[in-house]
Amino acid sequence: MDFTEKILVLDFGSQYTQLIARRVREQKVYSEILPYNVSIERIKEFAPKGIILSGGPSSVYDKEAPLPDQEMFNLGIPVLGICYGMQLMAYMLGGKVAKSAKREYGRAELVIDDDSDLLKGIKKQSAVSSQRSAKPVTRHSSLVTVVWMSHGDKIVRQPKGFKAIAHTSNSQIAAMADKARKFYALQFHPEVAHTENGTIILRNFVFDVCRCKPKWTMHSFIETTTREIGEKVGRDKVVCAISGGVDSAVTAVLINKAIGKQLTCIFVDNGVLRLGEATKVEGMLKKHFHMNIICVDASERFMKKLKGVTDPEKKRKLIGNEFIRVFEEEAMKIKGAKYLAQGTLYPDVIESTSFKGPSATIKSHHNVGGLLKDMKLKLIEPLRELFKDEVRVLGRELGMPDEIISRHPFPGPGLAIRIIDEVTQQRADILRKADAIVLEEIKKAGLYNEIWQAFAVLLPIKTVGVMGDERTYENVVAVRAVKSVDGMTADWAKVPYDVLGIISNRIINEVKGINRVVFDISSKPPSTIEWE
Ligand code: XMP
Repeated sequence: MDFTEKILVLDFGSQYTQLIARRVREQKVYSEILPYNVSIERIKEFAPKGIILSGGPSSVYDKEAPLPDQEMFNLGIPVLGICYGMQLMAYMLGGKVAKSAKREYGRAELVIDDDSDLLKGIKKQSAVSSQRSAKPVTRHSSLVTVVWMSHGDKIVRQPKGFKAIAHTSNSQIAAMADKARKFYALQFHPEVAHTENGTIILRNFVFDVCRCKPKWTMHSFIETTTREIGEKVGRDKVVCAISGGVDSAVTAVLINKAIGKQLTCIFVDNGVLRLGEATKVEGMLKKHFHMNIICVDASERFMKKLKGVTDPEKKRKLIGNEFIRVFEEEAMKIKGAKYLAQGTLYPDVIESTSFKGPSATIKSHHNVGGLLKDMKLKLIEPLRELFKDEVRVLGRELGMPDEIISRHPFPGPGLAIRIIDEVTQQRADILRKADAIVLEEIKKAGLYNEIWQAFAVLLPIKTVGVMGDERTYENVVAVRAVKSVDGMTADWAKVPYDVLGIISNRIINEVKGINRVVFDISSKPPSTIEWE
């Protein structure tokens, strides 16, 4: 992508590396992450206006310590080292690093000794003064701010040309600068929310030191990307699998904007979708965007495959493989198709190129690209530079309805992993109805956007009930609603009793085959979000 205002983040393995790039992008400056050992040629080609060295778990004196090319410091580009990045700068530029007598984790009070440059604009924190410990770290007039530390090593001698610009009670050099060369280093993490003035510090680096202009907007992204897609595709055809999720829908709408009818979307109904899903997605893409879309009702094929299968992982694999087969059959029918569009996001790209090695968490059944070998389709992944929240902003900018943009994540294997035990047509129909009621009531209560996922699970248990004068012996539905930021950890949502009451009443009254509803109050970990 041709953006001239760019910040490069070199990854030394910190859990916060992605956060640094996001914080920079929040300032409307494009930022990309590359592994620490990327070649100098690649850095020159990328042409950043500034480089940020991330933190990392290593110590610079470790035998295997990740070290970048020394030449990086001779490019005349401003550099900001964070945590391990700071120690690395000290070590590689002739200073000295040593084990800290006291490791520093968590909150610390930073005393600013020079607020003329990187640390300018930081306001005195009154909250800090009142919380100050018995042993004050500062004179009354000093600027103090709360920062987030996580380090075992510290700088004991600065490299030539550097001056300390801030300290804490534990580190005399908590921030240092060589203003002439525009090299800066911070012992703490400005990218995390707990560092109160972190954004101001990153802004100072990006705008004042690197002199970037805030040009990275979704509007500019759409312009550049659609132009690039148009040039790449020419008069050829593109196929795109639509799942109903945000990523594939935004991918399709973006490509449609670039090449219109040269794009064909394929939506496969695998029989374990939510109620009305296929019509909803098809309707949206056709009505709002006049797209070519083929809907394949393959539910019978999937049901046949799922017959007698109870193992969750087997269900996943069967559905994934069958999906590829159906998609391939349909895509083959499109004469002249040369490209396959996928909604790969930036975190997937980073995970597979990260210095920690390819991640085991990438979900294979979503990566249809690698499996279409016979068709020799080339990949187009227009979202591969974006984070999930940026995809949502992009979707809105493209005029997509909120109903699609803000929807809860839905797993690839669909309701099959929410029907405990064997999946049958009848069970899928029962669960679809119960699930629709859960979502309808959650939305009605205004809770949808604060919940990560809400859904129903069909249990293979029958219990006794009484309806009218009759004894019933029917299934149980569990309602699951969780709050989460990334799906990695989750807390069960405290859905008000009256909303749960309505959900329970409606399911039992309206869904034949269910006579009991329970609410799942487990968090992740130790439970998972899905039941299978
Ligand atoms: P768990 O159940 O592992 O779920 O806590 C975490 C998130 O991942 C989703 N999930 C899946 N998504 N294919 C998917 O595309 C799958 O096989 C799958 N299993 C779980 C789940 O819905 C939640 O958002």
